[in-house]
This record gives sequence, C-alpha cells and structure tokens, in this order.
Amino acid sequence: MGNLSDRMNEAKAFIESKTDYKPTLGLILGSGLGVIADRIEAPVKIKYGEIPHFPVSTVEGHEGQFVIGKLMGKTVIAMQGRFHYYEGYSIQDITFPVRVMKSLGVEHIILTNAAGGLNPDFSGGTLMLITDQINIMGISPLIGENESDLGPRFPDASNIYDKTFNYKVIEEARSLDIDLKEGVYFYFTGPAYETPAEVRLARLLGGDAVGMSTAPEAIVAAHMSMKVTGISCITNMAAGIQKTALNHKEVVETANRVQSTFIKLVNRIIEIA
Ligand code: HPA
Repeated sequence: MGNLSDRMNEAKAFIESKTDYKPTLGLILGSGLGVIADRIEAPVKIKYGEIPHFPVSTVEGHEGQFVIGKLMGKTVIAMQGRFHYYEGYSIQDITFPVRVMKSLGVEHIILTNAAGGLNPDFSGGTLMLITDQINIMGISPLIGENESDLGPRFPDASNIYDKTFNYKVIEEARSLDIDLKEGVYFYFTGPAYETPAEVRLARLLGGDAVGMSTAPEAIVAAHMSMKVTGISCITNMAAGIQKTALNHKEVVETANRVQSTFIKLVNRIIEIA
C-alpha cells in the first residue's frame, strides 16, 4: 500500500491522466449543497470509486465524485459528496481526498456543510462563516506516523479558518446583502443527531453550530498549510432547541431552500479567493 505520500501520488497520477486542468481551489460540498458542482463549466467528472486508495461514499444525498473545471474564472476541483467518519472509514481515509487536492496544486479549500444551530440568533436557513472549530471526539486524522514533507508533527491550529480571508468574506456578504453569521463549528461524529444534553454541552463549551463533517478535513488542510474557508448552512436548530424531531429530509429541504443565496455567496468567495 505504501506510505501516505505514495498513495497521494498514485491518486494524483490517476486524476492527472483524466484531465489537463490544474486546479488551485478546492470545494467540498455538503448535504443538499452539491448543486454548485453542476455550475462548473466544461467539467471533467471522476467517480471516487475509480480513484486509487479512495473510499466509496454510501450516504444518501451524496453523489460521490470529483468535478473539475472552471467556475468564476478559476480552475476548481469540487467534491460532490464527501466521506464521513460515521460511514465506517478511518479518520485518515475520510480526509485522504483533501491530501490529494493538495498534491494536485490546491492551495485554498472551501468546506461547506449542513449543520444544526446552537446560537439562539440562528434559525433554519442561516448561513454561518466558520471562525474556529471544536473537536473533542478523541479522534484526529493526524494521529499516526507524521510525514514531515506534508506538514509538521505538531501543527499550529490557531488560525485554521484564515482570519484575513474571513474578513473579506464578511465584507463581500454585506455587499451582496446576505446576512452571513459567524461562529464556531462543534464536531460530533454522528451518525445519530445529538441528544439535547449533548447540544447543551456543545453550546456551553462555545459552539455555535453542530455537525458531523468538516473538522477533520479542516485540520488536515491546515496541516498542509492550505488556506481554509468554511460555511455552514444551518438547516435546523439542534436537538432540544428545536422542539420537533430531527431528520435528514428536513436538512436537505432547508439546504435546497437557501441554495440560491448559498450559490451567490460561494461564487463571490471563489471570485475573491
Ligand atoms: N446535528 C448534526 N449534524 C447536522 C445537523 C444537526 O442538528 N443538522 C444538519 N447536520
């Protein structure tokens, strides 16, 4: 199987055998948000299942392919569908695509997700710019041997979501008249939605939104000195705050409802990236 760099290089070589595009910007699209990839011009699509060393996605509403091409004048590589720890893969495997993006030349990655709202200022349909994250699940994709060519053993995590770029995003959202909130993303592995007691804990510890993705990908990207931008679509208020039961259908429906605003914002982010 080889070490991580060898696996990255094999995946990279396979992708480069399918396209001459040299993407510089990466996009990972969450539940109900994959439609952005359909806007990519002259796309080259590569199913994850074809790529060496990739896991295969199983979750509903996740398409499972890279879409590479032009968006807002930039060469981008989008993940239409992502991998989650709750699918049963290792935490290292679910973040492997981020490693591969870096090896293809991606320097800036935009992570999107559907999330539950903790902050009382939020409601279903709120868009939140991620300022920081909390992962107390006891798992890190950086556990294991460190390949120092990829990044340091003890990477700094004080600016995972690039603050300087985030200021620009906030300004652009304002100019687009989009009410973009800011907040801390609190990671739970899932797949069960949180209990009301877990939700109270997450809020008490400083979270503004809860979700089951993004945090592992962000730390791997930061490990390799990639710039990271994160946007959560608050599809529901978290369990116990919202009085009705949570379900995936509601998550996808809310994400679909705010799709046009979300696309407008992400398009602008791509433009200024
Ligand atoms: N919790 C965790 N993940 C989620 C939620 C939630 O309430 N909504 C959408 N993704």
